[in-house]
Amino acid sequence: MPSLLASDKGHMADECRRCALAGADGIHIDIMDGHFVPNLSMGPEFVSMTRDTVSLHRSVHLMVTRPDLLAELFIDAGSDTLLLQVESDCDISATLAHIRRQGIRPGLVLNPDTPLGAAEEHEGEFDELLCMTVHPGFGGQAFLPHVLDKIRQARAKWPTLDISVDGGIDGDTAARCSDAGASTLISGTFLFSATDMVGMIHEMRSR
Ligand code: DX5
Ligand code: ZN
Repeated sequence: MPSLLASDKGHMADECRRCALAGADGIHIDIMDGHFVPNLSMGPEFVSMTRDTVSLHRSVHLMVTRPDLLAELFIDAGSDTLLLQVESDCDISATLAHIRRQGIRPGLVLNPDTPLGAAEEHEGEFDELLCMTVHPGFGGQAFLPHVLDKIRQARAKWPTLDISVDGGIDGDTAARCSDAGASTLISGTFLFSATDMVGMIHEMRSR
């Protein structure tokens, strides 16, 4: 699934169409507040632009300190999945439940050094577990291989859960994450720098 953080910011609508034409399963949209992570990115208007441009599933990754205060904005903007960082400063169970009640798919995100136990505390409250494979905040970072163990543990614990990975995913690391049990591969720099996104998505799926 392409992460739009790495797209050409001057041509965002065209980049969304490029993802659709390349056969992507959806688009990953990174929201940063300059506090939870030391960077700013996109807001709800961007999510609604993607909704009006392509019919791909919109997976919105909230890297913000107070996702409980912002969830409604991103629900209204057309998120299909809303991903919360477990390290954020709010009542995670209540926020996940609120998202589900609004008909949106709730997901939980673990930073690279956050143990799986933090997700186990919320068992049954989320439909996707995103294991960050870089420290969040920036695209183009190197994959952190120590996260592979956590992916294996998560897969052993939840055989049918959607387990995703985000950060430093290319052809090689996609294969390693798939082997460890990841079911959704999120990739920014690798997919958007490819001249042949169709081929790269095909290659990632075959891993
Ligand atoms: C990082 C973001 C990622 C990022 C991945 O904080 O959550 O979604 O776009 O980018 P690459 O694939 O370049 O590591
Ligand atoms: Zn992300």
